[in-house]
Amino acid sequence: MDSIKVTGGNRLNGTIPISGAKNAALPLMIASLLTADDLVLENVPHLADVESLIRILTNHGVDYRVEGKRPAHAGQQGRNIAFRAGEIVDTTAPYELVSRMRASFWVIGPLLARMHKAKVSLPGGCAIGTRPVDLFIESLEAMGARIAIENGYAVAEAPGGLKGTEYTFSKVSVGATHVAMMAATLAKGKTVLNNAAREPEVVDLANCLVAMGAKITGAGTSAITIEGVDALHGTRHRVLPDRIETGTYAMAVAIAGGDVLLKDAQAPLLQNALDVLVQAGVEIEQKNDGIRVMRNGHGIKPVDVTTEPFPGFPTDLQAQFMALMTQAEGTSTIRETIFENRFMHVQELARLGARITLNGQEATVHGPSPLKGAEVMATDLRASVSLVMAGLVADGETTVTRVYHLDRGFEHLEQKLSACGAAVERISS
Ligand code: EPZ
Repeated sequence: MDSIKVTGGNRLNGTIPISGAKNAALPLMIASLLTADDLVLENVPHLADVESLIRILTNHGVDYRVEGKRPAHAGQQGRNIAFRAGEIVDTTAPYELVSRMRASFWVIGPLLARMHKAKVSLPGGCAIGTRPVDLFIESLEAMGARIAIENGYAVAEAPGGLKGTEYTFSKVSVGATHVAMMAATLAKGKTVLNNAAREPEVVDLANCLVAMGAKITGAGTSAITIEGVDALHGTRHRVLPDRIETGTYAMAVAIAGGDVLLKDAQAPLLQNALDVLVQAGVEIEQKNDGIRVMRNGHGIKPVDVTTEPFPGFPTDLQAQFMALMTQAEGTSTIRETIFENRFMHVQELARLGARITLNGQEATVHGPSPLKGAEVMATDLRASVSLVMAGLVADGETTVTRVYHLDRGFEHLEQKLSACGAAVERISS
């Protein structure tokens, strides 16, 4: 199993290209099930989660073709991939494929919409929380689907097709919003989704669906209206830049010090997190081609944060921010409100010398703590990168094991950091 070795002490200077967003690419790929035509996605990142989803989609009968590099794409790292669900030959998504990645459950929406039936394995819990699927089931049932849970599968059918409805999510869910929105594109009549997630990835998916012929208004607000159409067609769509990767590298510069251009990053996608970094004493400049992040000389100030659905501070940056706060000159409080078990990095950061006390969903970080390199274990995707970040300022060598978690969501992490002067290398075993 690979590990990542970080030797602390180097500042970061240079340019880091921001990849296409994992959490936009996944639902966009799933949207290919809604049409028999080609859906060409540009700037799809090289990630283990993308590969897992390709396996799920090909099992349903989707063909995919990776386009070769074009002159216009010089310097671009992501791939352009054409997906074609000409004929869906299998409406079952089996456990052995779905269990690798929770988002694969989301195929249930497009399969029900286009094929009027789907049998999709329940994804099960995961390290960061129980993560139920009740909102998916409830919203699809509101559109007329009949769904039974049998032997670990959601077995769904909608004879005659889905029907438009007005539905209010009892809790904001990104995944359930993606799925209900995709399903409603081919339902008969109008659907209104209230208390919908407002994340930029929902807007990106809506933009792509509209380009495919869907009639959607209100994406990015908490009420999305979808007027069902008979069929969708193909299109070409560029995946938006990854705001979590952007925030992660901004925090890496903040912790290590330095001056880095996050190329292609878009500030409005993570304004709240950037504002928090400014409060912490980091300099941020919006440029034409990205975001410049600087911390030179002065120390880091403590800032309290609470994770919230967009446009609040993202849960996917909570672990990284905690790593940063271990170096703040004072005490900060971090409250997690999205997932009930997303503090597993606390114990690992403590192995490096961080002083963090946990009280339910609240962590109090006592900074500044001089960190010392150690062997630590990645527990989930964002927790793993927080350990790499802590390693950038730890004295000596930090080895992060179980990096398959990192490979799920960070494209070329060690190359991007090393190119800016960090001593980060992958040890293959
Ligand atoms: C998406 O997960 C992201 N994943 C997550 O990123 C992210 O942390 C999360 O949104 C919150 O922003 C992808 O986009 C692929 P939710 P999702 O449904 O859609 C509860 C990462 O590191 N809930 O918005 O699964 C749920 O348990 C990942 O890239 C229900 O109760 O998250 C949670 O407490 C991790 N019932 C809350 O809603 C349901 O039916 C928000 O989860 C569905 C969700």
